[in-house]
Amino acid sequence: MNSKKLFIETYGCQMNISDSEVVVSILEKEGYELTDAAKDADVIFVNTCSIRDNAEKKVRNRIQEFKHLKRKKPNLKIGILGCMAERLKDTLLEEESFIDMVVGPDAYRDLPSLISQTGDGRQMANTVLSLEETYEEITPVRLDRNGVSAFISIMRGCDNYCSYCVVPYTRGHERSRNPKSIITEAKDLLKKGYKEITLLGQNVNSYNWKTDDETLNFSKLLKQVANVSTELRIRFSTSHPKDISDELIETIANTNNICNSIHLPVQSGSSDVLKRMKRSYDIEWYMNRINKIKSLIPNCGLSTDIITGFCGETDEEHNATVAIMQEVGYDYAFMFKYSERPDTFAANRMADDVDEAVKSARLTEIINMQQKTSLASNKRDIGKVFRVLVENVSKRSTAQMSGRSDENKVMVFDRKNTVIGDYVNIKCTSCTVGTLLGEII
Ligand code: SAH
Ligand code: SF4
Ligand code: F3S
Repeated sequence: MNSKKLFIETYGCQMNISDSEVVVSILEKEGYELTDAAKDADVIFVNTCSIRDNAEKKVRNRIQEFKHLKRKKPNLKIGILGCMAERLKDTLLEEESFIDMVVGPDAYRDLPSLISQTGDGRQMANTVLSLEETYEEITPVRLDRNGVSAFISIMRGCDNYCSYCVVPYTRGHERSRNPKSIITEAKDLLKKGYKEITLLGQNVNSYNWKTDDETLNFSKLLKQVANVSTELRIRFSTSHPKDISDELIETIANTNNICNSIHLPVQSGSSDVLKRMKRSYDIEWYMNRINKIKSLIPNCGLSTDIITGFCGETDEEHNATVAIMQEVGYDYAFMFKYSERPDTFAANRMADDVDEAVKSARLTEIINMQQKTSLASNKRDIGKVFRVLVENVSKRSTAQMSGRSDENKVMVFDRKNTVIGDYVNIKCTSCTVGTLLGEII
């Protein structure tokens, strides 16, 4: 029996987590066994992210530790996967000579062969991007550990080329996965006891499956997945504002087990900035979509991503972001300072001219404001009852459990006799900025 051990560490977005699950599946077929301890591994994979400079720095620091491990264990093979591998290609092998493999997101089927060709200082790279690869028939090995919520990747790549973003370069062109294989995966998860499925894509709602005799858009796919079982609840991420159609909002509104929660990154509250970002919508369009969502799904959970200090951002444009955040009243937001990424349109054509100190001050301002908004939103929930999927034992006390409401709010409550995977009704009794506290009723 082969007992080679694999250690994998994942950075970046949910798509990367989902990809790591595919990688583990491919290697388990080759006889590898997953380990939690890097020091026991024969192969170490780091699945990386390039979205901002600090994401890459984090990986660069971390892999130095693996370099030390390799000194003690010369047969150890180290592979860099994911977006940094794709962005830097052979340069990464030249710069970090202890790395054995550099493998881009569309080349994971090639991993067993690449591993076998490395060793004794031989380095290998495969960073070929594909127009078709969706890993559709590979059953991912779930790394979630709670056994109730799982990701299903339904499309890959991005054709939007927002001016600041590396993703189209690291992930290649947009392509949708065969719906039959998506439904099969959802049914399989149901059989294994899973209760929540999150459909994933760089722009999940741009999903579009086309053959000679079939076309299927995202709302139709979403409905089909929801129809697999009412025992499953369905989420999806990340939606692009340009593709939030009325049909999609109606489908969410009319289908009980599709969660009332939408992550809709606005990036900036200024239409001029959005134009420079090449986001392909303006603020009127964005607010029109938000108002449609609010009118059809009154308590819909709303969250967003914001980039602050983008090229040329004036005080006035920044204030427009503050205003839009107040107007929408997001439940939570991921907020970032603009980080120039090599070879993007913005890096090539625009000056990264907002002072670092100004970027920091703007970021602090919006973070503080969002905290107030989040707290206000949570306070409005006190006294309300939520249907919650029990997902984890609480980090603070084993006498408590945590889970999320339909609207994607985290709730903590006394466990009583609940177990992970139960649906329970929880009445909210108090809250913090990030959590609702409550009791089972
Ligand atoms: N496809 C999704 C976003 C994926 S990247 C969408 O278009 O909404 C996740 C978030 O990272 C983005 O929404 C953006 O807010 C942020 N981001 C991307 N590139 C960035 C950069 N160069 N600097 C700072 N933040 C960035
Ligand atoms: Fe990046 Fe824009 Fe594509 Fe999102 S839509 S992944 S921000 S290029
Ligand atoms: Fe990062 Fe790549 Fe995801 S750049 S955010 S891991 S698509």
